[in-house]
Amino acid sequence: MLVVLKENSKEVGQEAARIVAASIRANPKIVLGLATGSTPLGMYEELVSLHRSGKLDFSLATSFNLDEYLGIAKDSPQSFHYFMHSNFFSHVNFSLERIHIPDGSIRANYSEYCENYECAIKSAGGIDLQILGIGRNGHIGFNEPNSSLASRTRLKELTLETIEDNRRFFPPGAEIPECAITMGIGTILDARRILILATGKSKAAAVAKAIEGPISSSVSASALQLHPDVTFIIDEDAAYALTQRDYYRRVLELTKKYTPEKLT
Ligand code: PGA
Repeated sequence: MLVVLKENSKEVGQEAARIVAASIRANPKIVLGLATGSTPLGMYEELVSLHRSGKLDFSLATSFNLDEYLGIAKDSPQSFHYFMHSNFFSHVNFSLERIHIPDGSIRANYSEYCENYECAIKSAGGIDLQILGIGRNGHIGFNEPNSSLASRTRLKELTLETIEDNRRFFPPGAEIPECAITMGIGTILDARRILILATGKSKAAAVAKAIEGPISSSVSASALQLHPDVTFIIDEDAAYALTQRDYYRRVLELTKKYTPEKLT
């Protein structure tokens, strides 16, 4: 696990975008796993600006989003479809037929729908680079605490904490979805490489448990300790509760010296 410590959320976004851009340049047919939420916004902004300045081409890339609320129309401003199109896809040259986001408007046959999502990921060759945020409760995607570490894409019941955290994205008085369709932890762990971003003090406890705590289904992100190629990119506030910060800085310096390819 590489832990990259940055000063602030802007630097986190820039570093994540730098790695995503380098990965696309190395493999234009890349399959990306994408995340929503406030954390990756800076990364999307940076990727859009690289595209606008003619330095990044998404035309051959494929994407699979992690999750979507259940019971929400694609064109609802609170949907993750809307988030992805308004913050990213409509500003770059991604090919529409290669964008995949779970459809939260389905009303039946959830298991079949989720199996098909898994099959689509497999037929695309699997995810090369997965982007993740982390919830205050340690969730990745919408894999709430006690999700099976082997879980696959499925319907997941949201915790009250997550529902409250998401309230800020909904108009006052609106009903917040109680369930989501989400890739499972097993699905995420199948990605060849994983970048997980975290910013702000509210994430510090979850980040410390994920990196330095025991592997436990109580903290979904701790499952990433099982993956051979994970990079955490976190700002000072989110790194606050880590006990080994100096060691992570040293590892980064030595990685730059001996195996710099791991950082691109
Ligand atoms: P946030 O959400 O980026 O909006 O904090 C992260 C998450 O819940 O996965």
